[in-house]
Amino acid sequence: EQIEKGGYDHFMLKEIYEQPSAILDTFRGRLLTNEAMIKLAGVEDNMKKFLAADRIIIVACGTSWHAGLVAEYIFEDLARIPVEVEYASEFRYRNPVITEKDIVIAISQSGETADTLAAIKLAKSKGAFVFGVCNVVGSSIARETNAGAYTHAGPEIGVASTKAFTTQITVLTLMALRLARAKGTISSSEFRHHLIELETIPSKVEEALKSDGYVQAISEIYKDAKNFLYLGRGFNFPVALEGALKLKEISYIHAEGYPAAEMKHGPIALIDEQMPVVVIATKKGHYEKVVSNIQEIKSRKGKIIGIVTKGDKSVKELADHVIEVPETIECLTPLLTTIPLQLLSYHIAVMLGKNVDQPRNLAKSVTVE
Ligand code: G6P
Repeated sequence: EQIEKGGYDHFMLKEIYEQPSAILDTFRGRLLTNEAMIKLAGVEDNMKKFLAADRIIIVACGTSWHAGLVAEYIFEDLARIPVEVEYASEFRYRNPVITEKDIVIAISQSGETADTLAAIKLAKSKGAFVFGVCNVVGSSIARETNAGAYTHAGPEIGVASTKAFTTQITVLTLMALRLARAKGTISSSEFRHHLIELETIPSKVEEALKSDGYVQAISEIYKDAKNFLYLGRGFNFPVALEGALKLKEISYIHAEGYPAAEMKHGPIALIDEQMPVVVIATKKGHYEKVVSNIQEIKSRKGKIIGIVTKGDKSVKELADHVIEVPETIECLTPLLTTIPLQLLSYHIAVMLGKNVDQPRNLAKSVTVE
């Protein structure tokens, strides 16, 4: 096992550090920047169906559901296709309205999650075309779907999902861009610009990983907190949910993720000097509004950990700590802002002496309801 961990203390940390290469592997043969092309066989072969689709319904569980939420923002923004994101467990039992003009995208790392599999069978029985985004080749979901695109994250051993999440977002971004190009909802120069930016992501993830030492120091300060709040907006709202889930899963600290602007409708009541609030406040994504949310937290004496774009000044003046990520176009920021949140949960859990790779009560793949 020590050899498999490749010198890292835990699989989770190894997998966090594998993300630059996992994303590159997921691009391979698909992202062709020089030719200004994206090649995804599963999409290409079914392009007619995708172009005729009235909407896309994404079904998934856990972290994969969060990747689905990020995809909702990306698909709607780039390809102008209406998207709904559903917990597979809810979808399967509520007699959903599905027609032959719907495309269902099922996202699953393991490809074995019982609820997701059942949701696929239901959608197929109603005549929908079902597309899978799985990591495990030949898994039940990969076999049950009509077509698909694999993430090439490699085996993920840590129960808390890390590289599967960022590679899912990568595949879904490639799909959205390919469809945007086919539908003409993006110009050829914008398309090219997105491809060039996407190509720089692995090295930017590498750079984001350099915050590790600083994140560890922040973890030491807040490891005994009883609650954490995570806030984000737009593309980074699902990242806030994922950051909170990561912390819950492995450190057993209660954490909530919220859209930053919804804070005033509830969570603000919880804020006092005991409450660390992680705020994703990258440039471009409603930045000014998030800065004013940060001011509200500060005036209630909450402790602020800002995830900011490199070189940021405004948040730095207000926050107790800021963790920088490199600049990129807005729709790609989740691939970078996720990194410090993974590291934060990892270090806190290690400091609290928890079993990071196999947290209590959780399973890597949930094959029962
Ligand atoms: C379990 C795992 C999570 C995962 C979820 C969905 O809860 O612990 O990490 O996100 O199942 O799994 P899937 O394999 O379908 O992505």
